[in-house]
Amino acid sequence: MEPFEIMKGVYWVGALDYNLRHFHGYSYTTHHGTTYNAYLIVGEKVALVDSVMGAFTDEMLSRLSKVIDPQKIDFMISNHTEMDHSGATPEILKMAPNAKLICTSKAVDQLKKHYEDGWDIQTVKTGDEIDLGGKTLRFYEAPMLHWPESMFTYYAEEQLLLPNDAFGQHYATEQRFADEVDQHVLWREAEKYYANILWPLSRMVQKKIEEVVELGLPIKMIAPSHGLIWRKDPLQIVTRYLEWAKGERFQDKVVITWDTMWDSTTKLARAIAEGVHSEGLEPILKLIPQSDRSDIIADMLEARGILVGCSTVHNDILPTAAPVLSDLEVLKPAGKKCAAFGSYGWGGGAVKKIQESMEKGKMDIVMEPFTVKWVPDTDELEQAFNFGKEFAKKVK
Ligand code: FEO
Repeated sequence: MEPFEIMKGVYWVGALDYNLRHFHGYSYTTHHGTTYNAYLIVGEKVALVDSVMGAFTDEMLSRLSKVIDPQKIDFMISNHTEMDHSGATPEILKMAPNAKLICTSKAVDQLKKHYEDGWDIQTVKTGDEIDLGGKTLRFYEAPMLHWPESMFTYYAEEQLLLPNDAFGQHYATEQRFADEVDQHVLWREAEKYYANILWPLSRMVQKKIEEVVELGLPIKMIAPSHGLIWRKDPLQIVTRYLEWAKGERFQDKVVITWDTMWDSTTKLARAIAEGVHSEGLEPILKLIPQSDRSDIIADMLEARGILVGCSTVHNDILPTAAPVLSDLEVLKPAGKKCAAFGSYGWGGGAVKKIQESMEKGKMDIVMEPFTVKWVPDTDELEQAFNFGKEFAKKVK
């Protein structure tokens, strides 16, 4: 396994996980696998910034050993405790017994609880630096981006930002730079990453980015801990994060996602989609049990509006729709314009449940729910069309 020198004296020594299809348990699908990026900075002293998932320790060591003897590592920098970036750290610290582990104070307990005690730990806070001999590494705490202990490492002389999970994508490829790969896949994976992991933390994302911008930190390259490295116009991903965090980036599309028992709600979804389309917006139709949940969430990030539908069973939603509603509640697409629709037999209940989830998600319900009894007739399908049309007018 070969290391890759991303700039003079800085080596990517991470691992490629081409086969990964689920991340964070089974909550996030990774159609393009992922990478665990670790960076070795070699000066008079040597620092390793983050490690990799434990199962990939050998792959990382085989790359790293081609640059230096692991014993020579002076600093093991842990930007983030999560196991995909710290799994190989115990092995590194075994091989480099004199290395100091650098992390924020909030990381100490986390690391000890994940692994073991007895490491030589030096805690750092924003502005603290270590000197590798003419190579300065400065640290910036980044709480809740996306764990409490997260931090960024900045290599000052080369203006290289190592922000760990921020600005990453789950995308395994032999290429290392963002400008070398399929741009559609790159941006889709960056969008999916933000929507599924960072969306509920948008306030913190905005605050941290504005803070960094205020510092006037020059940035020549951004090397995240997953996926591709941003070297051409690296601030483009920072700008995109800011737009996502503020909810200011829209495509002319409306996500319509639903589940159905006997196709009544599907008929409504189709009529509503035509209504949305009649106003020039693209309806993105996702039948929940046939769709990938984390892709639906990614579709929602830049949508102008979200419509969620369901049939009623036991005065409630179909259980198959529950995961999407749970995501709306916890990911909090705050301010996103939305409405509910559905069908029922004798007692309603599904649209009420959908609206409750939208309210918990701090979404902006712009219309009363549209619901029909049993099977929609011609008039009701016409009403559904008009519901979609009116919704589109409200969100355009
Ligand atoms: Fe890539 Fe928060 O771990």
